[in-house]
Amino acid sequence: MTENPSLTPQSPAPQSPAAQSPARPKRFRVHHLAEAKQRGEKLTMLTAYDAATARVFDAAGVDMLLVGDSIGDNMLAHETTIPVTVDELLPAVRAVSRRAQRALVVADLPFGSYEASPAQAHATAVRMLKEGGAHAVKLEGGRRMAGQVELLSGSGIPVLGHLGFTPQAENMLGGKRIQGRGDDAAERLAEDALALQEAGAVAVVLEMIPAPVAARVTEVLRIPTIGIGAGVECDGQVLVWLDMAGMGDWSPRFARRFGEVGQALASATQDYVAAVRGAQYPGPEHSYDQ
Ligand code: KIV
Repeated sequence: MTENPSLTPQSPAPQSPAAQSPARPKRFRVHHLAEAKQRGEKLTMLTAYDAATARVFDAAGVDMLLVGDSIGDNMLAHETTIPVTVDELLPAVRAVSRRAQRALVVADLPFGSYEASPAQAHATAVRMLKEGGAHAVKLEGGRRMAGQVELLSGSGIPVLGHLGFTPQAENMLGGKRIQGRGDDAAERLAEDALALQEAGAVAVVLEMIPAPVAARVTEVLRIPTIGIGAGVECDGQVLVWLDMAGMGDWSPRFARRFGEVGQALASATQDYVAAVRGAQYPGPEHSYDQ
């Protein structure tokens, strides 16, 4: 760590080879979404809730950073995303936007901040862009959100939809359950996705739906689908970073743990505690001369 972070601004993290590839744009923008789908290139998205992780994910070449309302259950120790407020999410959006050099920063619209009317959605989304520095917003729901998506898109605010299991509706859905099962489920989901596309959405997140249903939705849309527990046919993938990196004791079935960051942090912390208690840290090399 720097000695005095307020005097030494963090430089960008060194870019990974994936991020430097000539096929990857220098700044990932909304028009790259549809272009990637046309070219058959998979899109990557991860959640980020602070500057430190945003810096790492951005340098590693992640296309989109989602400042999700999953900050509620992952960072703020709520049971669900439902209690998260705009005022709680905004500082996280600001931190991620300040640090991301390449990624498109997407801010979630929290529960209760957009459903009532397009005007309410507009007021919240404007805050996410103006005060938070986000490039786009995400909201949950299908055709009933078409008015919101149309007003935002028409006002220059790119919108990502979110279908399937929508965590803000978990009380209505009877808990965290797979959606889109049943006879006409695929068609209903495809109609919702098409309604979002027609209203101007730039992409749609599909959460916890059967892989064939996600494949059908992906096939009928011009805009990309970003899957989370929605199989292999989606145009891209999103994960909560703690599930991706093995930060918690448990990850959902659809998440692969690409690391064991929780264990690494626990072990570093135990070493630190032992070194301080054993007077092995700090040493002369960590001390200042007079
Ligand atoms: O808030 C969030 O992290 C999300 C993802 C699960 C897509 O909406």
